[in-house]
Amino acid sequence: MIAFRNIHKSFGDKVVLAGIDLEIRDREITFIIGASGTGKSVLMKTAVGLLAPDAGRVIVDAEDVTDFSEARWQHIRIRHALVFQHPNLFDSMTLRENVALPLRKHRRISRKAALVAALGYLAMVGMEDKADLMPDEVGPSQRKRVSIARALTLDPTTAILDEPTTGLDVVASRTIDDLIVRLSRELAKTVIVVSHDLRSIFGVADRIIFLYKGHVHLDGPPAAFRASGDPVVRQFIGGEPDGPMET
Ligand SMILES: Nc1ncnc2c1ncn2[C@@H]1O[C@H](COP(=O)(O)OP(=O)(O)O)[C@@H](O)[C@H]1O
Ligand SMILES: [Mg+2]
Repeated sequence: MIAFRNIHKSFGDKVVLAGIDLEIRDREITFIIGASGTGKSVLMKTAVGLLAPDAGRVIVDAEDVTDFSEARWQHIRIRHALVFQHPNLFDSMTLRENVALPLRKHRRISRKAALVAALGYLAMVGMEDKADLMPDEVGPSQRKRVSIARALTLDPTTAILDEPTTGLDVVASRTIDDLIVRLSRELAKTVIVVSHDLRSIFGVADRIIFLYKGHVHLDGPPAAFRASGDPVVRQFIGGEPDGPMET
């Protein structure tokens, strides 16, 4: 469980988050959406202690973690794994070796055992047959899946995926959507997805949180967004060039 209580965050005189109140429910697929630059990534970084809010509290698993030390945040990041928009895999290692790394670092298991386990995580994302390839031998969506597999190795309860389909073609994006659904339905993870990919949003979200001007503008299931007459929401989901939304 991750909850944000009245989160504020500015950079210089630019107000990004102006009082975010939000509770992410366990085992749901929650999409965080909104125009580019609205603070979606900033909010996710506050959830795992990579950015500190100026005001407000972050509650994780019923504990106020806002003022945690870096060492304690590392434990939070194991349970709530954030996959960045541009995750780095090590070029000089195979996919399987990349996935084995967190296991080698955080679990006291042998290299051989870590490589065996890595294969299991690659299977979860449909990449086991590519395990011994190098990152540059597979496509961008496959690298993304491998980075998600790597994030699963320490058995997080929550996977936070920042723009997992941005920059991918339509077919590749749908394989990521399928994976998001499987993380939730088969692996019982809580999944938080930052996205502005409408197909992805309406295809797989249980709940959508629309951020606008530093606030939660609309929060509900996809049907509530489809039915919304709010002009800002209509502009966003209609992709209309003109409207009240300033981007
Ligand atoms: N570390 C930072 N320092 C200064 N400004 C930042 C920093 N991180 C984000 N910002 C600014 O905060 C705003 C929101 O950024 P971000 O959360 O990345 O937007 P998005 O909704 O596209 O993910 C942007 O204007 C961005 O330039
Ligand atoms: Mg972002």
